[in-house]
Amino acid sequence: MTDVATEAFDLNGGEPLPAGHFYDVVDDLRDKHRWYWNQCGPGYWVLTRYQDIREAFQTPEIFSNESIVPVDPDPAYRFLPSLTDPPVHMKYRTPLLRWLSPKAVQGYMPFVRENAVALIDSFITSGRVEFLSGFAEILPARLLTFLLSLPVSEAEFFRDCALRLRDTVSRAGEQSTAVAAMGDLKSYFTEVVADRRRSPRDPATDFIASLLEARIDDRAFDDEEVLDTLMTLSFGSLDTTKSVMSWAMWHLATHQDDREWLVRDPSIIPSALEEFLRAYPIVSMGRKVKRDVDFHGCPMKKGDMVMLNQYSANRDPEVFDDPRQIKLDRSPNRHVAFGSSEHRCAGSHLARAEIQVVLEEWHRRIPVYRLTEGTEVRATASHIESLDLSWS
Ligand code: HEM
Repeated sequence: MTDVATEAFDLNGGEPLPAGHFYDVVDDLRDKHRWYWNQCGPGYWVLTRYQDIREAFQTPEIFSNESIVPVDPDPAYRFLPSLTDPPVHMKYRTPLLRWLSPKAVQGYMPFVRENAVALIDSFITSGRVEFLSGFAEILPARLLTFLLSLPVSEAEFFRDCALRLRDTVSRAGEQSTAVAAMGDLKSYFTEVVADRRRSPRDPATDFIASLLEARIDDRAFDDEEVLDTLMTLSFGSLDTTKSVMSWAMWHLATHQDDREWLVRDPSIIPSALEEFLRAYPIVSMGRKVKRDVDFHGCPMKKGDMVMLNQYSANRDPEVFDDPRQIKLDRSPNRHVAFGSSEHRCAGSHLARAEIQVVLEEWHRRIPVYRLTEGTEVRATASHIESLDLSWS
């Protein structure tokens, strides 16, 4: 490709880097380019500026959800409602919303609080924990089982599937692990759905039973539609929440002033959480170009993939004052960590409430902690690999 800026920086994987370094590279690339062609995998465009990214999110007639993974333009799977465009998209999204509304979410919080406290209590006297394997991988998986009225003992299975999927996303070329993880998850849900059909449950209180009754135009969802929705809920809720929690804890372990502020005044937690979501964004969505277009000078062709680089948008100095600086009370803070369109994260209320409870309960019990001496924190793209914390 000539006359266009090209780069070759793996925005989803590559080698683990010291924590935070990934965002420095993303910042440098935004300073260099408004857009560029990334030569990773089959190649894709990258938009780097906040305003362009919001515009692309809000123009589905050009930027389609047919694929949302920049290196996978023709996915073999169909996550619902993610991989659909208007007008059909809302028909798949609407049945989820009552389970993920702010009011519904408040009903799940006693479970989250109880489990967060039990996990912390399980390691508090040892004075040390590897935060991901000891906490952040476990709590979201337990919450998912609760949301779907599945036995909490199945959380370990969901955690394992999410880990196998992440392993593959971050190490290009090992597709078989992800395919196997998706296959295992789909087989699991196939049995659950069959069981729900054999022994119907009340759709007013059982999420999966309500999906079996959801309607698209004049018919009910078929099993594939139910399964593709359950896949999205699983893969969309585990790695994401885990990583946001991990960045928050890494930041607080390494910034004593911010940690002390949060301990002294827990009412700052909702605002601090928004700032962690802004400054350490953990997903960047892809879109597939529907027709040839000159998008602010970028010569996109029908079928090209584009990354709407949310990592970069959230740290754009045109929109955020001093964006590399973490300000727990930043206001306004219109980040795009959850996207910006009718596909905007359906689970955002749940993710926020869960992480808020974690920050409250952790700091109530362990107000002073640090990175364990001699350990190094590395991240593969936007995902921390491990976070060893100590306290006395
Ligand atoms: C902090 C954690 C999370 C982050 C950063 C996050 C991020 C995102 C983003 C950026 C999208 C937009 C996709 C697009 O534009 O195509 C999305 C969609 C979605 N998320 Fe989340 N998510 C999180 C947690 C969750 C949780 C906990 C759930 C549910 C239990 C969830 C369920 C969904 C669903 C169902 C969609 C598809 C929405 C649609 O296509 O209409 N997410 N998420």
